[in-house]
Amino acid sequence: MSELTALLDFVEQQLGPPPIPLHAPCLEEADAQAVAECVRSGFVSSVGAQVAQFEQAVAAFTGASHAVAVVNGTAALMLALKAAGVQPGDWVITQSLTFIATANAIVHVGAEPLLLDVDDSLCLSVEALAAFLQQACDGPIHKATRRRIGAIVPMHTLGFMADMPRIVQLAAEHDIPVIEDAAEALGSRLQGRHAGTFGIAGILSFNGNKLITTGGGGMVLTQDDALAEQARHLATTAKQSHPWHFVHDAVGYNLRLPNLNAALGLSQLQKLPQLLQFKHTWHSTLAAKISALKILGGPLLSNLQGEHQPNYWLQAVQLQDRAARDRLLEMAAARQIQMRPLWTPLHQQPPYRRAPTFGTLQHTQTLFDTVICLPSSPRCDYG
Ligand SMILES: Cc1ncc(COP(=O)(O)O)c(C=O)c1O
Repeated sequence: MSELTALLDFVEQQLGPPPIPLHAPCLEEADAQAVAECVRSGFVSSVGAQVAQFEQAVAAFTGASHAVAVVNGTAALMLALKAAGVQPGDWVITQSLTFIATANAIVHVGAEPLLLDVDDSLCLSVEALAAFLQQACDGPIHKATRRRIGAIVPMHTLGFMADMPRIVQLAAEHDIPVIEDAAEALGSRLQGRHAGTFGIAGILSFNGNKLITTGGGGMVLTQDDALAEQARHLATTAKQSHPWHFVHDAVGYNLRLPNLNAALGLSQLQKLPQLLQFKHTWHSTLAAKISALKILGGPLLSNLQGEHQPNYWLQAVQLQDRAARDRLLEMAAARQIQMRPLWTPLHQQPPYRRAPTFGTLQHTQTLFDTVICLPSSPRCDYG
């Protein structure tokens, strides 16, 4: 108990006074000015120079050949799945320990999520994936049901990256496309390569709780010219390019990012290096404190080195059991310090209780039972 109080005291000392949010956006005067200038330009909707500029800047930062800006990360994932050829009736492999949007996007394209366990990386278990593909599948076809595996969607939990080289290799052996849910992983790199650029496509989110925000927003990243073209086309009502005629060659969507949001995104991108630096420092400071307090389980993944460069979007601590987790959540709430457990696993969420699974999902359960995300907001003028 006393070590939990000491942890709360420390958080308050460093980030206080309460109320302390889990993650507030870094909004400053320059952001307000960028949005105001966009309003004055008259180009506030999806036509406007800032959308293309924001796309180019994100592509340059991540190393993706193409970046397609859309209204949120969920829409980005749905478009990426569709553009990658996922069909109604397909199964799409993902992890049970993820935010529900990952599975929702899969269902929005008519497919069904197939849920696997995560491992100590907090991300999709390569062992579980290999076992499923090798034991249950013939190429991309599930032998027992003849269902096609339309894609594999690893999610980079809290900005920590999955073992993408091995996942991409396994997927290629079975002729299945990989689409990375990198919603939380802007700035995370593995072997120098940015999250979302290992698979055929990846997606980012710029929701208000992410490292940088556009209010609401998302991005499809890809190296594939045709996939980028298709995602952009579908997001723009599938309208054929013509100076005045309205001809649409498919049932498209209206999902392009408005210029107003892109203007905010461009301004936010300016401070991405400082935000990443802040996250890194806050991670080291908190991890050292958590280790000194000898909280069982300790700071999460604090010893990642070498190939992994996480963005440390949200700091997290592991407690010894579910009772300790709940005690800390209650103590924090009483002091108006916002903390959150990980997401209730998808296979326990009402819409996905009957989703197909493979293996035990034991790691998913243990991490859900014991991990708490800690306040991780950067220091900024507003918010
Ligand atoms: C893992 C994950 N996937 C998808 C999303 C969806 O992004 P958005 O909220 O921008 O739709 C989020 C976050 O919000 C997320 O954390």
